[in-house]
Amino acid sequence: MQIAMIQDKIVPIKELDPVYLDRGIFFGDGIYEVVRSYDGRIFTLEEHLQRFANSLSAIEISRVDIDRIRSRVLKSFDVAGISNARIYFHVTRGSELRKHLSNPDLEPVFFLTVTELEDHTQAKTKGIEVSTHPDWRWKRCDIKSLNLLANVLARRDAAAKGCAEAILVNEAGLITEGASSAFFAISEQTLQTAALTANILPSITRQFVIKAGGNIGLKTTEKSLTPQQASDADELFIASTTQDIIPVVKFDGKLIGDGKPGEYTKLLIRQFLSLTA
Ligand code: PDD
Repeated sequence: MQIAMIQDKIVPIKELDPVYLDRGIFFGDGIYEVVRSYDGRIFTLEEHLQRFANSLSAIEISRVDIDRIRSRVLKSFDVAGISNARIYFHVTRGSELRKHLSNPDLEPVFFLTVTELEDHTQAKTKGIEVSTHPDWRWKRCDIKSLNLLANVLARRDAAAKGCAEAILVNEAGLITEGASSAFFAISEQTLQTAALTANILPSITRQFVIKAGGNIGLKTTEKSLTPQQASDADELFIASTTQDIIPVVKFDGKLIGDGKPGEYTKLLIRQFLSLTA
């Protein structure tokens, strides 16, 4: 008899809930998105759906209808009734007994949650500490893949150092991005962040940060920083869907500026918020 064991319970394979055989669990074989709402309105859903479609196509999962995904997102957001919500959704290649090469007829599996966003007010007003960690990820970080082990390990290392985010540094000694955020410096009225290549995620928040920066007179340079350049910057911040802009006040133990959120960063936070309305 073919069996499975879940903790101490033995279950015949035939009776096993397919959720246990999801390729997302065995291989991280799937992709995801995170969108959020501000006061009852979902922000940049179309941009996230486009990136979702790009990720699906990059890992060759076909037969997923984006219009259907959009309807599911809208319906679940409506049912949940949470005004500041985090909507997480993923598609995996499907569920079957573990083998590297999947059955070509496998049905992709969709999963979604709508939950309350945490309150980031304290991090926004006081700023956070970050620490660097080697970027151990694969070479296609532009795909929003479920494979996040390197990101998780980097975050664990940062947490052990009392830091709220890990800033990833590649083998060339350049900062790519945060473990779950884009990374920015401001010096001499210029925003600086890594260029969009295969080694970082094309962050949606990044696009709007650059736009907000333009609105307050900041230029943008798309060029990676070294940790030394970052710690010498006038201001630093991280950016992501769930937290938008969070000032960084300490980088690898070194105070940035006077150790308080920078003036441009504070302006950017306000400007960004006006774009979400
Ligand atoms: N993370 N870079 C990485 C590695 C990320 O995981 C994220 C977002 C970002 C910012 O992307 P965006 O602005 O599109 O959210 C950059 C999400 C929020 C997460 O994994 O929960």
